[in-house]
Amino acid sequence: MMSIIGQSLLFLEASVATNTSSIIELRNVGKVYSSAAGDFPALRAIDLTIQAGEFLGIVGKSGAGKSTLLNMLTGVDHVTAGEVIVRAGAEVSIHHLSENDLALWRGQTMGVVYQSFQLLPMLNLLENVMMPMDLCGLYHPRKSRERALELLRLVEIEEHAYKLPAFISGGQQQRVAIARALANDPPILVADEPTGSLDSVTADHIFDLFEKLVAGGKTIIMVTHDMGLSPRFSRHLTIADGEILEETSLAASGQLKIEPNPRQTQSEDEAGSGSWKMGNEDDADLGAAQTVLKKKDKKKKKEKKSGKAKQEQR
Ligand SMILES: Nc1ncnc2c1ncn2[C@@H]1O[C@H](COP(=O)(O)OP(=O)(O)OP(=O)(O)O)[C@@H](O)[C@H]1O
Ligand SMILES: [Mg+2]
Repeated sequence: MMSIIGQSLLFLEASVATNTSSIIELRNVGKVYSSAAGDFPALRAIDLTIQAGEFLGIVGKSGAGKSTLLNMLTGVDHVTAGEVIVRAGAEVSIHHLSENDLALWRGQTMGVVYQSFQLLPMLNLLENVMMPMDLCGLYHPRKSRERALELLRLVEIEEHAYKLPAFISGGQQQRVAIARALANDPPILVADEPTGSLDSVTADHIFDLFEKLVAGGKTIIMVTHDMGLSPRFSRHLTIADGEILEETSLAASGQLKIEPNPRQTQSEDEAGSGSWKMGNEDDADLGAAQTVLKKKDKKKKKEKKSGKAKQEQR
C-alpha cells in the first residue's frame, strides 16, 4: 500500500518532463539572505541540470555560494526565487513539499554530508548512522544495525562505533557523516567538502568509494576545494559570487560517457507505486565498493612492502 508521502509525491508530480535522464533541475534559482545588516544575494538565477549517474564536482572560493547551492538542491533551506525539480522516481518540486514530507522524501532520496557534519551529539556513532534508517523505516531494526556497522567498517571507523561524536576526531566525524549519508542507500549523494578534514590517504579512500558508488549507479554532487580532483569528476563547475562561472565536462569532450542509470530513470509506471523507495532492495553497490576498496588496500600494502624490501636491499 502506498504511504501518505507517496501519495502526496504523486499529487505533486509535475506535468512537464523536459529531459528524461535529468535527475535534478534548478530553474532560475535565487537565494537572498536577509539579516539586520541587509539583504545579501548568495545565489543569482542559477540554471543547472544534473543527469542521472553524473559525478558532479563544484568548486569555488570560500563564500562563493557552494553550500548555499547544495542547501537549495537538497531542500535544507528555502529558495527565494525559482524552482528545484528532482526526478528520482516520481518528479517532485521539492520546495512545494511540506517540511515533514520533505524530510521523509530527502531521507529516502538523498544522502547529505554536511560541511559541519551535523552528527547528533547525544547518540553514539552507530546510532547516528542508524537514525536515517529508523526514521524512514526502510530496513528492519536488526538489519539497520548490521548495515550501520557495515557502513562504519566501509569508512574504517567501526572500532569507535559505540563512542559519542565528541570523543572522536574531526576527520573521524566526517567519515561517520559519510556513512550516515549512505544509510538508506539513496540514489543521490550530496556532499559538502566530504574530504576536507581527511588526510590524503583517507581522502583518496573516500573518493575511490564515491567513484565506485557512481559506477554502481548513484548520482553524486560534491563540493571540494581540491582542484586536483577536477579531472576525476564527470563534470565540474565553478561558482563565483553566487553564479556558475564555467563548466568543464569530460562527457562533452568525449573522454567519459555517462549512461543514464535505469534504476533512477525508470518511470513511475515501470517501477510501480513504491518506485521512489528505490535502492533499498539490495546492497550490491555497497558490496561492489567494498570489494574494490579491499583490492586497492591489498595493492597499496603490497607496494609498501616491496618499497620496504628495496630499501632494506640498499
Ligand atoms: N545564514 C546566512 N545569512 C546571511 N548570509 C549568509 C548566510 N549563510 C551564508 N551567507 C553568505 O552567503 C555567501 C555564500 O555562503 P556559502 O556558505 O554558500 O559559501 P561557500 O561557498 O560554501 O563557502 P565555504 O567554502 O567557506 O564553505 C557568503 O558570503 C556568506 O557569508
Ligand atoms: Mg561551504
